[in-house]
Amino acid sequence: MAPNLVLIGFMASGKSTIGRRCARALDFRFRDTDVQVERWTGKSVSQIFAEEGELAFRKLEAEAVRVLSRRTRQVIATGGGAPLDPENVRNLRRGGVVVLLKAEPDEIVARASRRKNRPLLAGADDPKARVLELLAVREPIYIAAADAVVETTNLGLEDSVARVLAVYRELEGGWIGVRDEAG
Ligand code: S3P
Repeated sequence: MAPNLVLIGFMASGKSTIGRRCARALDFRFRDTDVQVERWTGKSVSQIFAEEGELAFRKLEAEAVRVLSRRTRQVIATGGGAPLDPENVRNLRRGGVVVLLKAEPDEIVARASRRKNRPLLAGADDPKARVLELLAVREPIYIAAADAVVETTNLGLEDSVARVLAVYRELEGGWIGVRDEAG
């Protein structure tokens, strides 16, 4: 059975846009953990953060990861905070190959500022400083969780998609099904 393609990375790194295109190319379904949580609750991620707090969101996100990881033939785009929970990483890696999408902080700030749906950046006086602060903590965790890294800064959508697909196809060959914990 072919592994899922799991995309991790910081907010605005292109997980959903690239993921959707990869799903089409692979003839997989596209799933997004944020969208799954929004469907279950009938609320936007920002609303959940505001009304119930981040912890409540993280619990729902973990459940979305658990449920989606059990299914096959999917591209799964994860929220930027999902890999911070080791149980999420275990679940995602069990069902798929994990590709980290990386973008430069300036690019992230530029992309994220186009939409106001990111509660972790929304209130920041200095969005770039906030991005750098979060990245400093997260980057090593992302890298440890990933099978491969694709740098998307200065790459157009087509090239980013082609790169992710190439990486997936390379990793898929070595896929041995459900991995053990050490995998
Ligand atoms: C978050 C990223 C968001 C969303 C939530 C928290 C994070 O998803 O899950 O706002 O902690 O980085 P995207 O990475 O899709 O923006």
